[in-house]
Amino acid sequence: MNKPEALPLLQPVVGRPLPHESAHLHVSGAAPYTDDLPEPAGTLHAALGLSPIAHGRLVAVDLERIRRQPGVVAVLGAADIPAENNCGPLLHDDPILAAGELRYAGQPVFAVIATDRELARRAAALARQVIQAEPLPAVLTALEAHAAGQYVLPPMHLTRGEPAAQLAAAPHRLQGRWSLGGQEQFYLEGQISLALPQEGGEGMLLHCSTQHPSEMQQLVAHALGWQAHRVAVQCRRMGGGFGGKESQSALFACVAAIAALKLNRPVKLRVDRDDDFLITGRRHGFDYRWDVGFDADGRILAVDVDLIANAGHSADLSAPVMARALCHFDNAYWLPHVAMHGYCARTNTQSNTAFRGFGGPQGAIAIEMILDGVARRLGLDPADVRQRNFYAAGQDVTPYGQQVEELHAQALTAQLLASSRYAERRSEIAAFNAASAVLKKGLAFTPVKFGISFNVVHLNQAGALVHVYTDGSVLVNHGGTEMGQGLNTKVAQVVAHELGLPLSSVRCSATDTSKVANTSATAASTGSDLNGKAAQDAARRIKARLAALAAERFGCAAELVAFEGGRVSGGGQSLSFEDLVAAAYLKRIQLWSDGFYATPGLHWDKTRLQGRPFYYYAWGGAVCEALVDTLTGENRITRADLLHDVGASLNPAIDIGQIEGGFIQGMGWLTMEELVWHPVTGLLTTHAPSTYKIPTANDCPTEFRTELFGMANASETIHRSKAVGEPPLLLGFAALLAIKDACAACGPEGCDPPLRAPATAEAVLDAVDAVRG
Ligand code: MTE
Ligand code: HPA
Repeated sequence: MNKPEALPLLQPVVGRPLPHESAHLHVSGAAPYTDDLPEPAGTLHAALGLSPIAHGRLVAVDLERIRRQPGVVAVLGAADIPAENNCGPLLHDDPILAAGELRYAGQPVFAVIATDRELARRAAALARQVIQAEPLPAVLTALEAHAAGQYVLPPMHLTRGEPAAQLAAAPHRLQGRWSLGGQEQFYLEGQISLALPQEGGEGMLLHCSTQHPSEMQQLVAHALGWQAHRVAVQCRRMGGGFGGKESQSALFACVAAIAALKLNRPVKLRVDRDDDFLITGRRHGFDYRWDVGFDADGRILAVDVDLIANAGHSADLSAPVMARALCHFDNAYWLPHVAMHGYCARTNTQSNTAFRGFGGPQGAIAIEMILDGVARRLGLDPADVRQRNFYAAGQDVTPYGQQVEELHAQALTAQLLASSRYAERRSEIAAFNAASAVLKKGLAFTPVKFGISFNVVHLNQAGALVHVYTDGSVLVNHGGTEMGQGLNTKVAQVVAHELGLPLSSVRCSATDTSKVANTSATAASTGSDLNGKAAQDAARRIKARLAALAAERFGCAAELVAFEGGRVSGGGQSLSFEDLVAAAYLKRIQLWSDGFYATPGLHWDKTRLQGRPFYYYAWGGAVCEALVDTLTGENRITRADLLHDVGASLNPAIDIGQIEGGFIQGMGWLTMEELVWHPVTGLLTTHAPSTYKIPTANDCPTEFRTELFGMANASETIHRSKAVGEPPLLLGFAALLAIKDACAACGPEGCDPPLRAPATAEAVLDAVDAVRG
């Protein structure tokens, strides 16, 4: 055959810092998102009319008045939903459109369908004038709801040992309370769905910006009263999800589909940023109360803690979020005697949901605040106290009964404290603070241990479909969704590696419920672990068939056939992958395959909160230095050193991007992103970038050093890599604690600044005043 020889690859495809598969499209603005898809002729546009009050009885809605507005084609209320009025993922307690009761300011009450988006929005904006309601008392904070015993789910308790007796016997004891704000996902692409009736109204195709196409398919089918096979959901990419499109994309998908069915026309629903803020929930804010007993070295002997989450008006994903919070309260520490109590408070606010870390950050930060307080009480360096409490051999079982198999905290911390010159900088900072009256510096180290797997066992499964075309090119479809995290790049790398091809030979196509069925959300950081393995399985099945054919040709055993550099070789002979594929096709050998993966060894008793919910843990550590102006409260992180464990990285460039991005997002949550609900009306007042501040490039630490820990995963994951999506968010804890450390420099030795999070300028000034006073 006279084809040019494929160049041998100099380096393997897996493990290389290859750019994101769409990077060139992202930076040139050419990557199509849902709103960029060409609209079919006759497409109508929807907008939602929102409840103006936080709680009330819905008396009437003058939909006729809305119908008369220019461009309006139809107006839908709850009564127009053909079947189930629910978009809640677990409990069916989340109405698509309000019926009977208004539960929060911003709740969708009706949907306007108009000839263009602007006209739909104008008509929907009349909501306040057409909704008639009898106001009821609204509960706006988790603590109020907790005091009233008002929850979306029964409380959860997780206890080990004898916390009460050990607390009573402890030589030192500290009680505390703390309040932590929530966080808006602030995906750059807002919630959007485009519903296209198919087959004369017999079917529905949705293009939806969602992390969970299969759940969108199910919820749309339930709302329409259809079987799932009549609904298909596609998502090529999202402009970010961060958990906010795991369950909460459903409301928009359902409204678009209901309207499209009713009118038998394509309907697009793209919400404005303000409406997105007002309608959807976000990271749960938490309130804590703790009682901790410890020894003179700062070793924790016992701890009793209440974790009170603001769940909002419905359950959404609050049950697994709280379970994950309880399973991360230990973070990297051995807690011999512990009692944890989790409450999901029902309030008249948006229903809070998944956000990168999924309760893990809210659980782990509590123990970090506790240890910081213990160290200050004892006059010890908080980094020493942390290290003394690390899980270690013999003290390596979590409160929920899982053994911590890789004990990486010690080695990772030693490496990080050395590379960041923690001890020397402690002294330098003390000298700086002694000489500086207004500007104060602070330093903090915090570790991360984050459990990888969905804490709901059955969700840990994935499917993939790999097609090899007769020209040797490969198309991969898997159940995961691309939201910027680089999942498609990693999965393509895995498949290219299996088949010995350059990455340019492999493409991933849009996620599609009609290609891979019953997928899990791309969440819990498991995207590449699950879908990488499923795609590898599919590729291996094809490879086995091709190897058998090659072995026959080469006259060698199939096990000796190697796929590398675009060529297939064995028995001293070789041919191009392309030629082998062409030959296989002529021999009627199947050139495509499905693949499947289910994470082994997981078990979880959700009533006792015991088992092995996680396949393994990802580890990390951060050292942050903060500079605080104690007159204005302004603060910035001047240096951050991050050391993070991604196992044997599938793609170090993408992983470093995830670590840096996760850290900045965690830092933003804890230092600047503040949500404020009006105390009387219950309206979220911070509902746009003008009032809700996320970090920008200017907020990146002046000195920002990120390194990979570099140990292969001890568990048998895809190429021994580790999940990276969520764990680095917890590195941001060090930013808050560095600011707290700088505040402490304003007060007497051993003071413990009552710094709340987010540590906005106001919060910093309050903390400084408190320690000075
Ligand atoms: N990175 C980008 N760029 N955009 C995102 O929306 N979501 C995060 C994380 N990193 C997100 C991201 C969240 S919440 C999760 S769970 C993981 O990516 C999901 O992707 P993975 O499991 O494929 O890593
Ligand atoms: N469990 C269930 N659902 C989830 C999780 C989890 O840990 N993370 C994101 N969605």
